[in-house]
Amino acid sequence: MADTFIAKAEALETGQRFLASISGTEVVVFGHKGRVFAYENRCLHQGGPVGEGMILGRVVAVLDAEKRLLREEFSETEDQLICPWHGWAYSLETGDCAGLRGARLRKFEVVTEKGDVYVRTRD
Ligand code: FES
Repeated sequence: MADTFIAKAEALETGQRFLASISGTEVVVFGHKGRVFAYENRCLHQGGPVGEGMILGRVVAVLDAEKRLLREEFSETEDQLICPWHGWAYSLETGDCAGLRGARLRKFEVVTEKGDVYVRTRD
């Protein structure tokens, strides 16, 4: 097990994103809504820098009682990371790809100790 220092926790709270090279893999680390996430910074589509993408609520359909579409809106509880190259969307929570069942970004464990944020890897 190895911990790689990323940043002070307060830096992540400001919305800054950090890149780290961990065993040859580029990892993006960022905070959102009080939590910290770490993913391989490589989109599953064509390898784009997914960590540079916007974070948006998942688009959800709002239906009436007869299941007719009333409108679409952004979820306030399910956020997605959107790749800046062609718009592939990934669950912020799991890294699951919205458009390709079974595909997901590689997620890394994050630990915070004494105000310092680390990515933890197990060899
Ligand atoms: S490389 Fe990410 S959507 Fe195409």
